[in-house]
Amino acid sequence: MTDIHAATRTRSPNFRRPRVVSVLSQKGGTGKTTLSCALAALASRAGTATAVLDLDPQASAAKWHDLRRANGEDDPPVFATPSSRMQALVDALGRDGAELIVTDTAPHSGADAVTVARLSDHILIPLQPSFPDLSAITRTIDIADLAKVPATIVLNLALVNHPSADDARTVIKSTAAVAAPVVLHRRVAHVNSFNVGRCAAEYQPGGKAAHELRTLFEWLQGAGIVPTPGKGRAA
Ligand SMILES: Nc1ncnc2c1ncn2[C@@H]1O[C@H](COP(=O)(O)OP(=O)(O)O)[C@@H](O)[C@H]1O
Ligand SMILES: [Mg+2]
Repeated sequence: MTDIHAATRTRSPNFRRPRVVSVLSQKGGTGKTTLSCALAALASRAGTATAVLDLDPQASAAKWHDLRRANGEDDPPVFATPSSRMQALVDALGRDGAELIVTDTAPHSGADAVTVARLSDHILIPLQPSFPDLSAITRTIDIADLAKVPATIVLNLALVNHPSADDARTVIKSTAAVAAPVVLHRRVAHVNSFNVGRCAAEYQPGGKAAHELRTLFEWLQGAGIVPTPGKGRAA
């Protein structure tokens, strides 16, 4: 699964392009890296051959994987790469058996973001339900539209017992975008788990953060956005 030298092999007749889900937002700090790593970890645990492409020069997802390895877990592999190499890596990982590739991206990436979007099957847009973030969301939705790739907003970092997520849904309804029904609230387990190379569902399986994350993941599987093992390639 981690043999990227498979790039030199010829494409077998059984080659199936992996599903590419890119986590994109023109704003920093919306939870792109946390969400990318968490979804990839859950997919990998569910039995889907998964890899992460880290397109952010800050390489936070790659660092998360370093911590993960240090704690005894190798999957999912994370490859830090410039976006100009994304297509080649998707092909190489596909030849090597990858079924799902989750792409973590840099904020403010403009034209680069359009390139990444065009190479994706689906875009996830983490959105903090606050006024400045909502004002900036159309820029990311426009990128998905331009690339003609379906996009789903994931409300993240919502305050507990606060109406901001519901208010954000009202604003989202006035756009062409769709939001996942599950909200990820601001919970410390997301921070603590990332710091040891895990996701909240692995770190504190009985916690609220874990429950929300698993519910989101299952919804993404049900919607065909991420593959369900045994069901073939997602829609
Ligand atoms: N649901 C959440 N609850 C609490 N903290 C979160 C949550 N999602 C992300 N964070 C924290 O917010 C900060 C930014 O998240 P990060 O994933 O690095 O965003 P981005 O990649 O979009 O810049 C990090 O410190 C991360 O631990
Ligand atoms: Mg990031």
